[in-house]
Amino acid sequence: MFINFWYVAAESKSLADEPLHLTMLGQEFVLFRDSKGIARCLSNVCTHRGGSLAHGKIKGDCIECPYHGWQFNADGYCTHIPSIGKDAKIPGRAKVDAYPTQEKYGLVFAFLGDLPEEERPPIVDVSEWGQDGWRATCGVFEWDFNYQRSIENGIDPGHNEFTHSTHISVPEGKNWTIPDIDFKSNEWGGEASFSLPGQALKDEKWRQESGKSQPGRVDMLMAYHGISTLKTHIDLTEEFHSHQYLFDTPIDENHTRITLLSMRNFLLDPADDDRCNERSWFVAVEDRVVLEPLRPVQPPALNNREVFVPADAPIAHYRKRVAEWQAKGWRIDSEEVERNSLKVAYAIPSPARREHKGWVLDAIPLIEAESEVALPRISVV
Ligand code: FES
Ligand SMILES: [Fe+2]
Repeated sequence: MFINFWYVAAESKSLADEPLHLTMLGQEFVLFRDSKGIARCLSNVCTHRGGSLAHGKIKGDCIECPYHGWQFNADGYCTHIPSIGKDAKIPGRAKVDAYPTQEKYGLVFAFLGDLPEEERPPIVDVSEWGQDGWRATCGVFEWDFNYQRSIENGIDPGHNEFTHSTHISVPEGKNWTIPDIDFKSNEWGGEASFSLPGQALKDEKWRQESGKSQPGRVDMLMAYHGISTLKTHIDLTEEFHSHQYLFDTPIDENHTRITLLSMRNFLLDPADDDRCNERSWFVAVEDRVVLEPLRPVQPPALNNREVFVPADAPIAHYRKRVAEWQAKGWRIDSEEVERNSLKVAYAIPSPARREHKGWVLDAIPLIEAESEVALPRISVV
């Protein structure tokens, strides 16, 4: 798992009057709204005796630990320690890590890392959000697979006609081949565009309601952005588009919380939401069925432990990017965390750690940065 990316912490609507207790990147966090309604995200471990802040109360702009009532503000500073009296000086070390947040697309994003603002990777652009003629729905589910396997699945052009044969049917003997892919790399990811020689709308009712002709192919764009965001554009007809954004938040290495934001420019009546969501859910479950049994659980460290074919080019691209982000020193040493799990509570380092010293919790161990990137050698057969 990686620090220094924006992760979806929750849907905005799920964050109301009570603090939320979350696990992300194997660590615990508390999410709450301050008195102005701004979403705040803190490391959950109270620096007094290790209490769980998320089990406490929101007091104005602070979160109050349930154990001895210490209060921490939105910047993570302790502002009140009942047992030392009102005017006593609060120890500087009695602070917790606080993480930048942003609310966009009906979601609360938390930046889990210590990069200064100007160096942070951006949140993916959902250009359809708020536009006339588009409707959004959102679903959240937690499944037992590794987030990298999930991202690789989302940029895997070769799996559609097999894993999703219920909604994309390719005529026998017309399997799609790699030369049809247009792959573009960008600063924080890559995208593959291609057409499947099939038809997407097997559902007769949908076909009738779309009122559009079928071009006899499905145009697709499968893209990854950063370590764990996917963009899937499925252009079912020339005017009938389903654009999905999938945010994978690693709960830990083997469990992933998926936030699926689905945008569509057809069937705009809210009464159609359930039907469309059922469709998205069905497709997501088809992916789950193939992803949960994948072995090893994480993509293998050595690429010669799998065979790559030309259709796997986007996955090879993602793995190289992952290696680059690891070389920057952003990858959590999960084995070390696991070894110490009974004795050490860690914190994901927040931006304030670059400016202030004196933290009670150790920063989570990271795999050391390398000056040269050891790019994985992937031989395509
Ligand atoms: S453990 Fe949080 S106030 Fe004591
Ligand atoms: Fe899929």
